[in-house]
Order: sequence, then C-alpha cells, then structure tokens
Amino acid sequence: MTITVSTVAQRLDAPHRLADDLGFQRRLAQFNSQRIAPSQPENDWRGAIEYDAQMRLDEGQFIEQLRAEIAPRAAAAPREPAAFVAWFAALEVEGPGQHDSLFDWLAEHATDAQMLWFLRQEVAGEAGFEDLLAYTQVKMPVRAKLEMARNFWDEMGRGRRNGMHGPMLAELAADLQLDASIDGSVVEALSLANAMLGLALNRRYAYHAVGALGIVEQTAPGRVAKVAAGLARLGYSTRQRIYFDLHSAIDLRHSASWNAEIIQPLVAANPDVASSIAEGALMRLSCGARCFERYRADLWRARAVEYASA
Ligand SMILES: [Fe+2]
Ligand SMILES: [Fe+2]
Repeated sequence: MTITVSTVAQRLDAPHRLADDLGFQRRLAQFNSQRIAPSQPENDWRGAIEYDAQMRLDEGQFIEQLRAEIAPRAAAAPREPAAFVAWFAALEVEGPGQHDSLFDWLAEHATDAQMLWFLRQEVAGEAGFEDLLAYTQVKMPVRAKLEMARNFWDEMGRGRRNGMHGPMLAELAADLQLDASIDGSVVEALSLANAMLGLALNRRYAYHAVGALGIVEQTAPGRVAKVAAGLARLGYSTRQRIYFDLHSAIDLRHSASWNAEIIQPLVAANPDVASSIAEGALMRLSCGARCFERYRADLWRARAVEYASA
C-alpha cells in the first residue's frame, strides 16, 4: 500500500473521530500487519522509518482520542490497591458493552449465515492475545512478569501445538472459510484491533495494555459461553467450538490471577499507574461496545430485510 507522507500529515490535524474513519483504520491495520511481521533489512530503511513515524503519530492521535472519551470515568477509579481491584472487577457488570443483548441473540436466534458474519468480524478484531501479552510483559516487575509468563504458557498450549489458542481460532476460521480480511471488516472491529496493538506496542501505554488485557480475561467468559451455545445450537462440532468453550472456563482463572498477581501488586507499588490501567480497560470495553452496537445494527437490519422479503 502506498501512502504519501503529506496525505498522512494532513490527517494529523483532522478534527474527526479516527476510530470511525474506515480509510484510516484500514491503513493502520495494514501498517500494523507489516509492523509486527518478522522481516529483513530493506534498502530504503530510512524511507520506511519516516513512514513509520508518520503512521505512529496518527496512531497516537487515534489512541489519545479514545483516551479522552473515557478519561472522566477512569479518573473516578480508586488508587488504593484492594479498592482498585474491586472497581476493576465491577467492570464485568458495569463496564461499557457488558452483557450486550447481541450475545443472547447469538446463543438463541442467529442463523448460520448471521453467526458466520459475526465470527468473521470477531476474527478480524482479534489482535492475537499472546503477542500483545509478549509485548506488554517487557521489563515489568518480577511478580507481574511471572503471571504474564504463566498466562503466555497457557496461550502456547503449555508446549503442545494443538493446545495453542491462536492457531485454534485460525483453524476455526479456515474450517468455516471465514474471510477475515481487512477490507471485509467493519471499522469498529479494525479500531478494536488497532487500539489493542497500539497500547501493547507503545511503552508509554504499557499500563493501559495491562488494563486492556486484564479486562479481556475478565469479560470474555460471559461472551464466549453464549457464542459456544449458539454454535452448538446450529450444529457445529465440539472441535469447532473448542476455542470458545475453552475460554469460557480458562479465562475465569486467568482473570482472577491477573487481578491478584498483576494489577494489585502494580498499583500497590505505584498508585499512579491505577489511572492508566483503568483507562486501558475502559478503552478496550468501549471499542468492544461499539463493535456490538455495529454488529446488532448490521445483523438485525439484515434480518428485517429477510422478514420483509419472506
Ligand atoms: Fe487464550
Ligand atoms: Fe486467557
């Protein structure tokens, strides 16, 4: 993809919401996929760095816009460790997008085509938990780092290829022939993935990434259990449901350990990081809430059309 530096630079002053800008989110997603791909030296490495710098400036503006949206709520989070963990845990019920009606509908009513459309967006919005975790754990204090290592080991299937979480989802996507391409994804799903990678890759957002990953562990079980129920109702096999069934159980344990071994000690050591952890969690949940709203709008509008033409 070729983008002139002036095009990108112009966008830096743009007043609009970058999370809703499909063209920008597609460019950022494309940039991100190249950015983290194992590569080799290229002749025009100076030009590549200049392009990286422009994209990272735009990414910074996108993330700062998301931060500004949730900052007032995050500012209310306590700084005392136990109180902060209780505040964080309460996001499971009170956080943006939690227990969205989309998931009951997926469990009980969605057709096969609607479920596949949903899964395609979800796969596109999945930034790869294990890699986000690997970036986030760099130079973290020992206790937090150790828990991240245990979590990472689970992501790696504890050393067994067929137990690895990432490939499990990739195999489901291949099996169901889900086209999770950047161009086939709604802007909200791209924004979610781009935000997660932006937090994990930029060290100024390291504690935001801790909050964002921790809230994924805490909130995933409720959602994936409903998705697994919908897949079972539609006749998908145990093997095809395994990614969702697995996470509906294992993430309960991951979440409890994340809160006890990562969040509580980090806030106890430095209460100043509480607001960053809170912001990261709320940014992740807000991006998710926008996805659910968009999915409902598209899926339920399509359903209305089906009914009208029946
Ligand atoms: Fe996982
Ligand atoms: Fe997990």
